[in-house]
Amino acid sequence: MTRIVKAKDGVDEGARILRDGGLVVFPTETVYGLGANAYDEKAVANIFKAKGRPQDNPLIVHISSLEQVKDIAVDIPDEFYALAERFMPGPLTVILKKSDKIPYVVTAGGETVGVRMPKNTYTRELISKSFPLAAPSANRSKHISPTTAQHVYEDLNGEVELILDDGPCQVGIESTVLDLTVDVPTILRPGAVTAEMLLDIVGQVSQNGKVIKIAKAPGMKYTHYAPKVDTVTAVNIEHAANEYDKQVSLGKNPVIVARDIYRDVVGERNLISLGVTVEDYTRNIYSALHTAEKAYDYIIVEELHGHGLEASVMNRVTKAAGGKEV
Ligand code: TXA
Ligand code: MG
Repeated sequence: MTRIVKAKDGVDEGARILRDGGLVVFPTETVYGLGANAYDEKAVANIFKAKGRPQDNPLIVHISSLEQVKDIAVDIPDEFYALAERFMPGPLTVILKKSDKIPYVVTAGGETVGVRMPKNTYTRELISKSFPLAAPSANRSKHISPTTAQHVYEDLNGEVELILDDGPCQVGIESTVLDLTVDVPTILRPGAVTAEMLLDIVGQVSQNGKVIKIAKAPGMKYTHYAPKVDTVTAVNIEHAANEYDKQVSLGKNPVIVARDIYRDVVGERNLISLGVTVEDYTRNIYSALHTAEKAYDYIIVEELHGHGLEASVMNRVTKAAGGKEV
């Protein structure tokens, strides 16, 4: 049986479960994580079982203080510390060369390891009372990432003893993954820490590089973040409305997922609102997809056009739609 406990009340119990080799779900500013002692091969193996995750997709190690990095990684470049000063704690994962203490089950057999310090203070307390935690997003493999404790429960009930609940995640999409083990620091996964923001610190960043660079994040070859029903993105709200009407005429029960500013255009059609700003859109998108897949059989998501956070969140939405666009 899986229990949901308020994070502020559950830290000590969570730390005990982790010390006993168990799994604990914890809140972060991005999405909820499914954690185990990063130094314990057996505990980490259970993460893959619980999620149904392929063994060749590496896990991020979550830390509570910068001193822990020296146990996890070696040959740490100065750039890491410069980035850490600005962005840690925060939604940034940095890929470094792994130390001998980190078992290969964490890194999917590779010589590098992702390191991230989440913002949530209860989660950092949990880590400081136990271990650095290897953790992926706390969803079943290939499903949408969880931004509430309830999302986690729906996917992982029975697979994990304890979920620490600290309400909805503030950022709403997974951390930016930046590889520092290559000549030019390379964004493997865009997120709320954007290339423009990183450029302030590192001078040079590679993004949307050739396929070779994308393939370096082993997780990227899998379809991720997919709702259980057909999903498309719409270039603009008029396209969304047309597609909606077409699906209705085909006997479908569709929904438009879009910002509130389009309520007039959407009219009587089913709408799940993403709020007003790009930040709202990002914070709400996974929750909206969770809601949509339960109540409707066809999801049409408004596209955002632009750089920075717009591009990061579109990266996830495009994947959710498997690239299908109207
Ligand atoms: O915001 C986040 O990063 C959340 C929260 C829980 O911290 N975690 C998360 O983990 O999204 P996960 O496992 O769902 O996604 C981690 C991504 C995967 O695409 C994986 O391939 C990549 O990071 N990754 C992890 N370690 C890596 C490594 N050593 N080299 C390259 N890519 C790595
Ligand atoms: Mg994930």
